[in-house]
Amino acid sequence: MDIRKAYYVKPGNFKNLELKEESIPEPDDHEVRVKIHSIGLNFADVFCLLGLYEAAPKEAFIPGLEYSGEVIKLGKKVSSFNIGDRVMGVTRFGAYCDQLNIDSRYVIALPNHWTFDHGASYLVQVLTAAYGLKELGNLKKGQTVLIHSAAGGVGLWANRICKQYECYTIGTVGSESKLPLLKQEGYDQSIVRDTQSFTNQLRHALAGRPLNLVMDSIGGSIMKDSYKALAPMGRLIAFGSAHYGERKDRPNYPRLIWKYLNRPRIDPQNMIGENKSVMGFNLIYLFDNSDIMHAMLKNLEQMELGTPFIGHIYSFLNLPDALREFQSGTTTGKLVIQI
Ligand SMILES: NC(=O)c1ccc[n+]([C@@H]2O[C@H](COP(=O)([O-])OP(=O)(O)OC[C@H]3O[C@@H](n4cnc5c(N)ncnc54)[C@H](OP(=O)(O)O)[C@@H]3O)[C@@H](O)[C@H]2O)c1
Repeated sequence: MDIRKAYYVKPGNFKNLELKEESIPEPDDHEVRVKIHSIGLNFADVFCLLGLYEAAPKEAFIPGLEYSGEVIKLGKKVSSFNIGDRVMGVTRFGAYCDQLNIDSRYVIALPNHWTFDHGASYLVQVLTAAYGLKELGNLKKGQTVLIHSAAGGVGLWANRICKQYECYTIGTVGSESKLPLLKQEGYDQSIVRDTQSFTNQLRHALAGRPLNLVMDSIGGSIMKDSYKALAPMGRLIAFGSAHYGERKDRPNYPRLIWKYLNRPRIDPQNMIGENKSVMGFNLIYLFDNSDIMHAMLKNLEQMELGTPFIGHIYSFLNLPDALREFQSGTTTGKLVIQI
């Protein structure tokens, strides 16, 4: 049996993240062994560490949803890959390691001109943006779209997809330092969110345009105000609740409970009269439907979305620091861990 390095966490406290060495079994019949070169971080990882991610295990586990590297072993029934193939892939947790056995359904070839860092910066966030905008949002040419956390991993892909549809995009961010990136990425309008005056900020940015679609990963009053601003037939896609995010090692439970109790409540009965919709999703459940994932990826391949925007690169040993920076809410683009 071979030995690998992996980060384990007992959810609930950042300090519980621990690097361990352990043996790794031979791949099962349908698995490949990937020698990981780059790991992609996702904001869900931060929630996993804090013990706030519903879909994550409650006991100690290896976090991490995406990676890229090379195939170094093949299960007996795998015919779609060869030893040495450069690949990228997803996993339902378990990517914070240097070697991974993974069902070959969750691995795809790395585009020739992409680095391993690019490979670790694509699948989860682009699929999230595409699923929200296209499958649920029914995105149409020329619409006006509001994208929260516009300079983040999902946000940047969302804008690039919208631009393929010649949409007018309004991006919101938490700080002015992120504005140059929004300009560089071609957003039409940008807002540095202020919870007290967000309704006015948005009205000003819309300048009379109808708001057709909202990509909301923040929740709370920002979600509520965004929903209110939707035009008839508008849709709000709820796919995250970053406002519950904590900048400490452990969640502040009284504060979380207060936020939870004061969360926006949108009444479906009123939606009828208002002619608006709210839809939610968690991509992790697509993991059990990998055929949908592959179909979406084929479709995305045909769009010219460009190479991933990598904002920050860290070493494997500095992975805990990377997560702390992610948690701070100050990052842009993708955070990549190199091994
Ligand atoms: N439902 C799904 O299947 C699914 C899949 C992937 C991602 N997501 C969600 O999509 C969102 C974006 O994910 P990502 O990986 O691309 O992350 P990201 O946008 O690169 O980073 C998260 C951003 O959230 C914003 N934020 C707002 N309130 C915050 C707080 N209290 N603490 C920290 N950050 C805060 C910050 O940007 P600004 O302040 O500039 O807005 C921060 O940069 C996350 O909420 C994530 O959970 C959902």
